[in-house]
Parts: sequence; structure tokens; C-alpha cells
Amino acid sequence: MQTTLKKSTDPLSVGADAIVVFVAEPAVATGTVAAADAALDGLVGACVADGEITGEVGQISVVHTGGLIGAPRLVVVGVGDGSIESWRAAGRATGARVRAIKARTVALAIDDADAARLTALVTGVRYGAYRFDRYKTSPLDPELTDLRVYSVVVSPAQLRRATRLADAVGAARDLANAPANDLTPTALAARAAELADQTTGLECAVLERKELQKLGAGALLAVAQGSDEPPKMIVLRYTPKRRAAADEVLGLVGKAVTFDTGGISIKPSGGMEEMKLDMAGGAAVVEGIGLIAQLGLPVEVVAVVPATENMPSGTATRPGDVVRAMNGRTIEVINTDAEGRLILADALTYAVTEAGATRLVDFATLTGAIVVALGEVYAGLFGSDEDWTAAVRAAGEASGDLCWPMPLHPGYAPLIKSKVADLSNAAAKRQAGAIYAAQFLREFTDGRPWCHVDIAGTGMIGGAGTGFGVGLMLAIAEQLAHTPRH
Ligand code: BES
Ligand code: MN
Ligand code: ZN
Repeated sequence: MQTTLKKSTDPLSVGADAIVVFVAEPAVATGTVAAADAALDGLVGACVADGEITGEVGQISVVHTGGLIGAPRLVVVGVGDGSIESWRAAGRATGARVRAIKARTVALAIDDADAARLTALVTGVRYGAYRFDRYKTSPLDPELTDLRVYSVVVSPAQLRRATRLADAVGAARDLANAPANDLTPTALAARAAELADQTTGLECAVLERKELQKLGAGALLAVAQGSDEPPKMIVLRYTPKRRAAADEVLGLVGKAVTFDTGGISIKPSGGMEEMKLDMAGGAAVVEGIGLIAQLGLPVEVVAVVPATENMPSGTATRPGDVVRAMNGRTIEVINTDAEGRLILADALTYAVTEAGATRLVDFATLTGAIVVALGEVYAGLFGSDEDWTAAVRAAGEASGDLCWPMPLHPGYAPLIKSKVADLSNAAAKRQAGAIYAAQFLREFTDGRPWCHVDIAGTGMIGGAGTGFGVGLMLAIAEQLAHTPRH
């Protein structure tokens, strides 16, 4: 995908497959819309008068231009109240439509919309036009390859940020959507290494089983022992040229279970194929730190991604087994399907004790319970520190990766007790499943400001990865870059 910024004030003369213009609600023809109306002999105004074009968010009208302007089609898109969220929704609708009409080159005439709206639009268009067709052998429809943004307000750097963000979200989706026979822990580690090779200041280290044994990462190893695929603890570190806050290291942790069968506590077969997406958090973290490094933000960041399969076999962990986590705590594995918290336990410990993270955010497709609670709109946000949780929530709002606060409380602690070990990985009671998991993770954060984002609902929608979290991570890093914390 190529995205270019055009400073021309005459987008209608561009040679493109489609020119896209935007109208707020109630629809009034101004700017490029008015110019298009004039060039098309009042056609747009007639649609408005007819009530066909109202400006309602996401509403799309495709007008054939008969060569009266530079493109054969004019696409009129409603942006409703003109809020950033509305521009994002309008972008998605636009992306889906330009894909349906098989447009390759599309001009977006955004008039005086600002950088935040442009970002919402461009990422939205890319989201709407996204497809995962790597495994199709039949001839494919032409795809959108060339976006031309007409704006006199937005700077090249702002468009570059939007484009890089869209690229990183697309890369995270590609990783998530890849089937588990190709996207193994080894393959995810290779992608991390490739990113580090391509990016200044970004370094990658991959811990193999032997090193994990030496570190005592018994919780991650317990999940991995049922699989023939070797586990990897992927560690990416971004060292900026300059730091805004000298003593801060942002720790990003992402669950990467490349396939979750449930293990011996095996899942029902219906829909199990979706569990190839159980590495969506890890994929977002890998691409997220890559994006922060590419944009050269003045923030030190370390990413820790525990990657493994969760399989049943003769060597798999059994319910009732007791394992020792990297921080020395013992865990009774009551349910082998509660594997995410096990691998995150060791990753959080590693981030704090080995990688020096001073504050943490983890992203994980952790519980079905969060899907029941919040659906696909809001991720569940848990945190141990009020200010840090507020900052993460604000970054979610700014990026469109929405997070809703969920509680932690000592009253939930009895649920994670075990009769035989320090902790149990699954509660006896079927209640508050998402909170219980978060309460468990907190035991491995060493009292550092920590947030847990449960993306089981938002990270995978309709059986496909969304890239949720990448934008949030960028927004968080930008926040840290501007406000030094001490
Ligand atoms: N990966 C699943 C959670 C999940 C479920 C993600 C649905 C996306 C969609 C996780 O490993 C899991 O199996 N969680 C169990 C925990 C339970 C056994 C305590 C769950 O949520 O049922
Ligand atoms: Mn599971
Ligand atoms: Zn899982």
C-alpha cells in the first residue's frame, strides 16, 4: 500500500478509480463536495434534496461521474457528527466499499479535517479494505494499492504516522490470522527478529527451552511440555537515541499461544479453529514495539512475548500438577485451559526482574468471561495503579482501542488460593472469571504499576484478528514521551 499526501486544492482533477468526499450530518455541500456538485451539474445536491445523502455516519453513495471529474466514480461518505470515532467508522465503511468496487487508486479529499481525523480515516479505510488471502490460489480481485490524501492541513509526518500505524495493525492481523501450522512460536520469533533487523534501535533476543529451564520459568514450560513445537520467550528491546524520562522503561507483555486446544482440559471441537488467534496479544506487542521504534519515540521499551502451543499429549501437564513459576511461587494447575495466565506469569516476572520494566501493560486473549461481560466493543482493563490505569484508558480512547475499567479487590484473592500450592490457576467457583485471571497475574508484577488488557473479545472478531492494542501502545508511548514521570 502506498499512501501519498497531495497539497493540491483541486482533488477533483486527480486521475484515480474513485474520489472520496465527506459530508457531515445534516448534509450541506461545502468544500470539495460543493465543487463536485458544481462539476456534476448538481447531482450531489439532488441526492441531498432527495434524502439519499444525509451525512449519517458510514452512509455511502457512489455516483458515476461520466468523466466530468478526474475519476469515474465519486464516493460520498457520511461522517455524522464529525467526531474522531465517526471518522473511524466512516473510514471502515469506505474501505469495505472501495474494495467491493475493486478500486486500486483512491483519492481521499478531506478538506480541513485535522490529523486525528485523518488518522482515524486512513486506519479505518485500511481496516475496511483488509483481507487475508495469502492462502487463496484462485485469481484475486484487484486490491487497493494507492491512497492519495488531499489535505492542506495535515503534515507529511502526520500522514506517515497514520500510515505506519495502519501497516503495523495490518501486520499484527496477518500474524494472528495465519494458521497455527505456519505461525508457530518459532515463526513468531522469526518475525520479531526480522523487525529488529529492519529497525534502528530495536534488538531481539529469543530464549529457548534450555534458557527458560535455567531461569526457572516453570509455568511457561508446563504449558509448552505437551507440544512438539519448542516454546520461545521473545524479548524485543527498543533503546531510543534520547529519552524523555530517563528512568522509565515501558514493559509490554503479550500472550502468544499459537494454538490453544485447552490441553488435557480439552476444549469442545466446535469453533476450536479460532484458537489459532490466541496469540493476538503477542502479535500486537511485537508489531507495537516495532512501530514505536520505527517512529523513533524517545521512550525506552521492552516487549516480552511468551510463545507456545497448548496441546494435549502423553507429555502434557495434567490437572492437579504443581509447577514452580520463575518468581518462585508454586501453582496448582487445576485447569490446563487456563494456560494464558501461566505463561504471562513468567513473562511478567521476566519483564520486571530481567528486563528492568518500571511499568507494565499486558495484552491477552485471556478469558471467555470478558467476552460475556463486554463483547467486542470494549476490552477489559485491570490495573494496580490508579494513574497508570487512567493513562492506559486515555490512550485507548485516543487510539480507538477502547478499554473499560474492571475491578481488582482483595476480596477476590481467596479465589486464587490452592490447598496444596501457593496459587491455583482456576477458581473452584464459576464467577468473575476475568477478574480472577487478572488477580492471578497481579501476583507476578512485583508491585510495579501494571495494567492488564483482556482482549478476548476485541482482539478477534468474526474469527479474524483485529490488531487491537497496536494503536493503544503507540498512544501510551507518545504519552510517556511528552509527560516525564518520576
Ligand atoms: N484463550 C482462552 C480464552 C478465550 C476464549 C479467548 C474465547 C478468546 C475467545 C483461554 O486460554 C481460556 O481457555 N480461558 C478459559 C479459562 C478457564 C478455563 C478458567 C475460559 O475463559 O474459559
Ligand atoms: Mn485456554
Ligand atoms: Zn488461551
